[in-house]
Amino acid sequence: MRIAVVGSGYVGLVTGACFADLGHEVILVDNDEKKLEALRKGEVPIHERFLPELLARHRGQRIRFSEDLHAATHASEAIFIAVGTPPTESGDADMSYVESVAREISAAVNGYKVVVEKSTVPVYTNQWIETIILRSGADPEMFDIASNPEFLREGTAVTDFLYPDRIVVGVESERAAEVMRQLYAPLTSGWYYGRGDAIPRPDRSQVPPRLIITSAKSAELIKHASNAFLAMKISFINAVASICDSVGADVQQVCDGIGSDSRIGPRFLNPGIGYGGSCFPKDLTAFRAVAKENGYDFRLLEEVIRINEEQRHRFLRKVRSVLWTLRGKRLGVLGLAFKGGTDDIRESPALLLVHELLREGCQVCAYDPAAMPRVQETLRNGIEFATDPYQAAKGADAVLILTEWEEFAALDLERLRGAVKYPIVLDGRNLYDPSTMATHGFSYYSVGRPPAQSAETASARAAKKERA
Ligand SMILES: NC(=O)c1ccc[n+]([C@@H]2O[C@H](COP(=O)([O-])OP(=O)(O)OC[C@H]3O[C@@H](n4cnc5c(N)ncnc54)[C@H](O)[C@@H]3O)[C@@H](O)[C@H]2O)c1
Repeated sequence: MRIAVVGSGYVGLVTGACFADLGHEVILVDNDEKKLEALRKGEVPIHERFLPELLARHRGQRIRFSEDLHAATHASEAIFIAVGTPPTESGDADMSYVESVAREISAAVNGYKVVVEKSTVPVYTNQWIETIILRSGADPEMFDIASNPEFLREGTAVTDFLYPDRIVVGVESERAAEVMRQLYAPLTSGWYYGRGDAIPRPDRSQVPPRLIITSAKSAELIKHASNAFLAMKISFINAVASICDSVGADVQQVCDGIGSDSRIGPRFLNPGIGYGGSCFPKDLTAFRAVAKENGYDFRLLEEVIRINEEQRHRFLRKVRSVLWTLRGKRLGVLGLAFKGGTDDIRESPALLLVHELLREGCQVCAYDPAAMPRVQETLRNGIEFATDPYQAAKGADAVLILTEWEEFAALDLERLRGAVKYPIVLDGRNLYDPSTMATHGFSYYSVGRPPAQSAETASARAAKKERA
């Protein structure tokens, strides 16, 4: 099929590249000339596994780049809207990008088209898009609106798209449902998974995926409700971690115990410094705002958001309690992205913490495998950048692990020990076993688990106690 994807950001680029890999002809549209120029030259503007391979495979063949939405709409049977929906001051989603794209599409309807919401949007958006297109004078028989929320996670976006847990399609007509079925048929029929050159299947994925057809409103709500539930799971375990900290229990053991209950499951029970990124924070406030507008005060979400913010402050207090004063302390910071596997720093808890530490007078030397160029664009002063984790740790009063990159879970601990001034690690992602860290000579502090002291520190303390 011939499709257009409007917005070539994290979601649009991945959607376009994956649809091309499924055999569709894709026009990727964006209004950022610089981004389009880079894409045409073969550059990949975001860090996302398998994306460079897919773009190289299909660029100039099944993928074209364009700034001309009018022409792209003319040429396509389905037009996916994947532009940003950032939060406004009051917390609801700013729908102005979606609205302006819908207006442009409406002026170019020249045959039956399905206009697909891929952006995360509040319930009723499908009706607004329909109204806008009708107001432009388009024939109601010539288009349908579908809601096709995206559940990909940055860092594993390509495999999430190609091996999804489910595909949700919200439509109000059988004609639109059929177009959407055809678009996803290479996945739902299992055809893609039999191909020799398919992107490798991740563990845990079930193929072929289920296609869930709902009303447009239900699909819009499924996306907001899914993100709200996942954020709630994170805040829940972080609240439990805080109790563990207070009573000296181990939150990893608690996770193991509760996650083994098949009704709860172990995934997303990851205590740490909280969630961030471009989705959870804004989607929660948007969902809360939508609920309020429709007469429901979703106070549970307020608490989820409050716990998430508090989690960062708790970690900062832990840093203070370990280092006493912060002014002038040199910190090696591992991780700036909001999660591992991506260069996205939007609402990154790691970066928010770095800002706080700088404000308190710390010297920060940071390393992140992908996000440093993005941080350098926004935060020019006050932070040094290292070329690897050991350089970041060099001469540090303490090392802080703030993003769960796989690389940070597999550090050469002897080398790290040799680099630091004091062997103190504060791990905001619980990447290490405390006893392993103590064996390697570190005093180790994490989230919701008792701290571990190096043997030297422990015996020096014991000797002092004895003398007293
Ligand atoms: N990033 C994620 O992990 C993720 C996951 C699921 C859903 N979503 C949702 O998908 C949507 C897009 O998110 P994103 O992270 O890809 O955003 P993004 O900011 O990375 O990309 C948006 C793109 O749209 C382009 N754009 C804006 N206005 C345009 C216009 N009028 N015409 C053409 N292009 C235009 C921008 O230049 C940019 O390239 C959001 O609603 C988001 O909530 C994001």
